[in-house]
Amino acid sequence: MNLAILTSGGDAPGMNAAIRAFVRRGLAAGHNVWGIPRGFEGLVHGTPVPLTAASVANILMTGGTMLRTSRFHAFYEPTVRVHALESIQRWHLDGLAVIGGNGSLSGAYTLSQEGLPVIGIPASIDNDIAETDYSIGFDTAMNNIVASIDKIRDTASAHERIFVVEVMGNRCGTLAIASGLACGAEAIIIPERPTDWDAVISQLRATYARGKRHSFIIVAEGAGEAPSVALDIEQRTGQEAKWVVLGHTQRGGPPSALDRIRAALFAAHAVDLLTSGNHGVLTGWKNGGVHVAGLADVVKGRTEPPLPWQDLAEILAR
Ligand code: F6P
Repeated sequence: MNLAILTSGGDAPGMNAAIRAFVRRGLAAGHNVWGIPRGFEGLVHGTPVPLTAASVANILMTGGTMLRTSRFHAFYEPTVRVHALESIQRWHLDGLAVIGGNGSLSGAYTLSQEGLPVIGIPASIDNDIAETDYSIGFDTAMNNIVASIDKIRDTASAHERIFVVEVMGNRCGTLAIASGLACGAEAIIIPERPTDWDAVISQLRATYARGKRHSFIIVAEGAGEAPSVALDIEQRTGQEAKWVVLGHTQRGGPPSALDRIRAALFAAHAVDLLTSGNHGVLTGWKNGGVHVAGLADVVKGRTEPPLPWQDLAEILAR
């Protein structure tokens, strides 16, 4: 078979580990494996490159994606997608794996409805994809946030400051909640739940009254702007508040061991499914193992953030 792979949307650490696993498992099964550079844009305007075992050497431990990626909004247009289908026929592709988040998986689903054998592999630091408990990149991003906050804590404590830390998540609070729980944040502000600001301010006052020398408020992207949150807190508590937007530092760097392992399992299973003629599905994670779900169900919504973890984090910070 001629199998192809592409990475699409925001890169996530572990995408390279997934490419490597897809290529090497595919070659081991006797297939030719092709890489499509720059995501769906490459499917419409680009040229596939043959991938060998050697071409994916030394990428396991790197972030980003060797195939590069793009946010190609034109792919929603049927008149544009027609060119993708033409490319697939011209290149004699028998199967395609799409590694990416919600937008990319909707593209994959549409292609599968149009008759292409497609498998989705979940990869997004947001961990907000339906039908899977895990998406590649989440663990690394969470650890990147924790490492940054651990550094900020030293200076926050030295100056007895409050820090407002804005993290990514694309209007989903999961990354904020998980990293807030891991860092002992006083409050976690997410788009999915209204914030009781009076309670946050009382908590901060109580924190300083009992002698704590620093406090952290984690704000999920889409739930507020760090500078205005910090200004408001400073005015209401009388305590100096600084802010930091971690931005794309969260998405870079070597993938964690967990991300490498899950990437390998998801991608190898994607090859096995394509080999046996199964497609139109996602190779995700549930109940401690690889879980296959229909792309039709994946595109219906997004996963809810773990709200009980948010409650627990706030209790533990008291
Ligand atoms: O989906 C991953 C993500 O990092 C989101 O958390 C964020 O909203 C978005 O991508 C940022 O995208 P870009 O890198 O295109 O600015």
